[in-house]
Amino acid sequence: MRTPIIAGNWKLNMNPEQTTEFVEAVKAKLPDPSKVESLICAPAVDLDALRKAAEGSNLHIGAENCYFEDEGAFTGETSPKVLNEMGIDYVIIGHSERRGYFHETDEDINKKAKAIFANNMTPIICCGESLETREANKQEEWVVAQIKAALEGLTAEQVSSLVIAYEPIWAIGTGKTASSDQAEEMCKTIRETIKDLYNEETAENVRIQYGGSVKPANVKELMSKPDIDGGLVGGASLDPESFLALVNYQD
Ligand code: G3P
Repeated sequence: MRTPIIAGNWKLNMNPEQTTEFVEAVKAKLPDPSKVESLICAPAVDLDALRKAAEGSNLHIGAENCYFEDEGAFTGETSPKVLNEMGIDYVIIGHSERRGYFHETDEDINKKAKAIFANNMTPIICCGESLETREANKQEEWVVAQIKAALEGLTAEQVSSLVIAYEPIWAIGTGKTASSDQAEEMCKTIRETIKDLYNEETAENVRIQYGGSVKPANVKELMSKPDIDGGLVGGASLDPESFLALVNYQD
């Protein structure tokens, strides 16, 4: 049985002070982690404040990116080794903003996934097609190719434990959510791809989130779909009340 996982991706928003205030506002009202896992992924500069504020609560904490090397002459990068030392649980990789603005390739994302596992954290691997690709009806082959490239060389055990986030680019920050049927269709395709690449057990274990204009008003409908195990939420995760409504969608 997969535990649902609702994650905020704060992107380049919030400072350490706002981070502390946010966690103080939500930490006593988070759901039982055996029912829903609550996660905030924050900018690297906020992670120390996030960890301190979340201590002893049900809030999991994640980074929004990291590099695939632990140390060395890589100016400006974030070490997965240090993230682990800081007590970080999850790292988002391959977000469409990283792929688009920072030219990250499938190969980089695969190397990052391996580095995150090597440092005892869990990757959240993002995938998703552009509007152009969807209009050409090529979204399935696009996403399947991203998944195959990202998982290259990972073991069934690793894949069982990771999280995949399907985020159609046309639905990010646009207010235009994929319909729950469109989201389910792709999440199902991703699960089938993992079954083909690995086995049924691995496919049943992997958690797949949908991301793209998820908000309190549509979270329940999305989460009712059999292959959607969570949400990766940008804008609607920045406000404590809204985040609480998302993670407590079962109430
Ligand atoms: O990673 C979350 C994301 O890209 C979706 O953003 O603002 O549409 O919820 P938003």
